Amino acid sequence: MKEKLQALRAKALDELSAITSSDDLSKALEEFKVKYLGKKSELVAVMKGMGALSPEERPIMGQLANEVRGDIEAAFSEAREKAQKADLERKLIEETIDVTLPGKSSPMGRPHPISAVQTEIENIFIGLGFEIVDGPEVEYDYYNFTALNIPPDHPARDTQDTFYINSNVLLRTQTSSVQIHAMEKKRPPIRMISPGRVYRSDAIDATHSPMFHQIEGLVVDKGITMGDLKGTLELFSQNLFGEDTKIRFRPHHFPFTEPSAEVDVSCFACGGKGCRLCKGEGWIEILGAGMVHPDVLRRCDIDPDEYSGFAFGLGIERVVMKKYNIDDLRLLYENDVRFLSQF
Ligand code: PHE
Repeated sequence: MKEKLQALRAKALDELSAITSSDDLSKALEEFKVKYLGKKSELVAVMKGMGALSPEERPIMGQLANEVRGDIEAAFSEAREKAQKADLERKLIEETIDVTLPGKSSPMGRPHPISAVQTEIENIFIGLGFEIVDGPEVEYDYYNFTALNIPPDHPARDTQDTFYINSNVLLRTQTSSVQIHAMEKKRPPIRMISPGRVYRSDAIDATHSPMFHQIEGLVVDKGITMGDLKGTLELFSQNLFGEDTKIRFRPHHFPFTEPSAEVDVSCFACGGKGCRLCKGEGWIEILGAGMVHPDVLRRCDIDPDEYSGFAFGLGIERVVMKKYNIDDLRLLYENDVRFLSQF
């Protein structure tokens, strides 16, 4: 038995020293532990044979067995400690952080040109005492059309075809629907603008999109005249396009304003002489406007004999495209940062 125990010790220590250089250290060590120190190890098997020894031999062999076990255990813990230390050192070398490397910079974002121009326009009107109101993009037929003097059989519906949720609910084609909401909720004096998305059933090309942005303006009070409309739009245009900007009213027709006009600003690129931006005209069309139709006021329970008002509607994309000389509307929706970071 003595020889057996000694041979076992020698074998275990040999095997252990072979392990230290093996690849998967922790797995090899674990296997070693099971094999030599576990419940089913050879050592345990040898110790089980102890019962057959004479009473004199038993304590001597018992002591030796304990020594062998102790030696194997000590060698094993030492090996494991060494392995852990080596592992830590390897990690420290492999995973060093070079604190002198430059950090990753995250580029600063900025507002989209549509948002930027919208905010600029909002600020001009806030300065003139207007309030900003919001309106629904999913709208009843009544607010988008009928209340604006566009009954179901009116030809103006053909030019503003849209997306219908059902026969009575649609995506608004114009922010003019907010005029009705505002006049139903508030009593004059009303001075508001309402920016937002509008929708039309148009195919996408360089100048059309099924979704775009408008800003609606509405003023209702006693004694409001076309002079107020002109003065307001002139001030607005000069603020947005430059002090020397002139405006021009051309007669037009909108069912919900009377009289109605299309409004041009003098070209801010050439000052009105005619250039590529204004296509030689000297003028750039920016909005539709007019005096609120008496029937529209009446429908909102506002007496047209007592009150009058003006309204206007401006396409934000148009202003953005002219201001930044962008010739394709689609660029504004593709969200290509190479394009957007220019503004
Ligand atoms: N809603 C009209 C359009 O989309 C513009 C407009 C607004 C005209 C207000 C007059 C008054 O074309």
